Amino acid sequence: MRVTVFGTGYVGLVTGACLADVGHHVLCMDINQDKIARLRDGKIPIHEPGLEDLVRRNAGSGHLTFTTSHADAVAYSDLQIVAVGTPPDETGAADLQYVLAVAEAIGANMQSPKIVVVKSTVPVGTCDKTAECVAAALGARGSTLGFDVVSNPEFLKEGAAVADFQRPDRIIVGTNSAHARNVMAELYEPFNRNHDRMLYMATRSSELTKYAANAMLATRISFINEIANLAERLGADIEQVRRGIGSDPRIGYHFIYPGVGYGGSCFPKDVQALTRTAREVGYHAGLIEAVEAVNARQKTQLFDRIAAHFGGVDALKDKTVALWGLAFKPNTDDMREAPSRVLMEALWKAGAKVRAFDPVAGEETRRLYGEEPGFELAPDKYSALDNADALAICTEWQQFRAPDFDEMALRLRNRLIFDGRNLYAPERLRDDGWTYFSIGRAPVQPQARGKQA
Ligand code: UDX
Repeated sequence: MRVTVFGTGYVGLVTGACLADVGHHVLCMDINQDKIARLRDGKIPIHEPGLEDLVRRNAGSGHLTFTTSHADAVAYSDLQIVAVGTPPDETGAADLQYVLAVAEAIGANMQSPKIVVVKSTVPVGTCDKTAECVAAALGARGSTLGFDVVSNPEFLKEGAAVADFQRPDRIIVGTNSAHARNVMAELYEPFNRNHDRMLYMATRSSELTKYAANAMLATRISFINEIANLAERLGADIEQVRRGIGSDPRIGYHFIYPGVGYGGSCFPKDVQALTRTAREVGYHAGLIEAVEAVNARQKTQLFDRIAAHFGGVDALKDKTVALWGLAFKPNTDDMREAPSRVLMEALWKAGAKVRAFDPVAGEETRRLYGEEPGFELAPDKYSALDNADALAICTEWQQFRAPDFDEMALRLRNRLIFDGRNLYAPERLRDDGWTYFSIGRAPVQPQARGKQA
């Protein structure tokens, strides 16, 4: 099959490369000439395991091609997948200008019937708006040229996007057109061979499913963070509570890890957009608003603790905090809404310095904060600690899980860790002379040696 994908961002590029890899012919379109030039050279703009290989292989075989021309993109195929960005606008609503611009380009350029597949995460009702936009651009030609608009949300996790696309839990197709349904079934047939994962539904149900899934997952995270905060105050250990509730199959172990709050390109944006959509239809989605509020508070946790430990915000002036982990989660260089940003910005405001290490997100952080005098990037995890007053941890990269604590103690000024991801066993650190703060567990202080009975 021939397929056009609009947008070579995260979703568009993964979609295009994975569809090409199963044998479809895919043309990826982006208005950013630079990006397309780099993609033609096999260079991908994001860090995503397996993606670069996939792009190179399929570009090499001719299954994956690139263009900056709307006319070429529209002419290439009858299946037009829209995967452009929907960043939040200043009010927190999803900005639809890029989606609607593609709709207009399709309407203006189409010479044959099209199926327009909306893969971008868009508020409920956007497929209807997209159809209006295509129809308006099509004008009088609409009497002879038909088109369908289909909702087909993605459920890709950063760091595992290729695998998620290749082995999806479900493929949601929202349409009332039997023709569109058949074409979508053919498109995804290679991913359904052993087990049919297609779920067909009404367009608006499909659009809402995407938001409901992300809001549910975000709710679980804010819920466990709320219980963690309670556990600390009640003298309970959240890790024990987590295992205790996760063993109930109705609850399960996924997405109940306490931490410094969720970040990334999806949860924060989608939770806010859903809240907004609710307001637009006159409904106050109190639970979903609370999920957002709990998360915002959780992101300030590490800073509050560091400040309290040193005796207040003023005491942080000229302190240096080593920071392990910048990305909003491991295996990505994505810094969008990363909890590390809230911590760093608060530390700088208090006059402290940050010496950070992240296995891949360092460059992206430098791009964001290059001018910030309080920011220094360390080449490895241990040199980030040199003469720092404390270590804070924001991302649970594998290489932080079993570090050499002796080496750390030699480099740091104090045996002091603020762990936002509960990576270590508190007793072990206590016995080793560390002061260790984590989430939802009592802080530990070094045990006075020789004083034990
Ligand atoms: C998410 C959804 O999982 C995916 O289905 C959707 O398509 C896009 O949004 P992603 O943003 O890549 O994917 O990251 P995910 O792995 O879901 O993690 C999101 C955030 O939640 C991270 O900041 C992570 O650290 C945090 N998180 C996750 C927790 O704090 N606790 C958990 O138990 C799980």
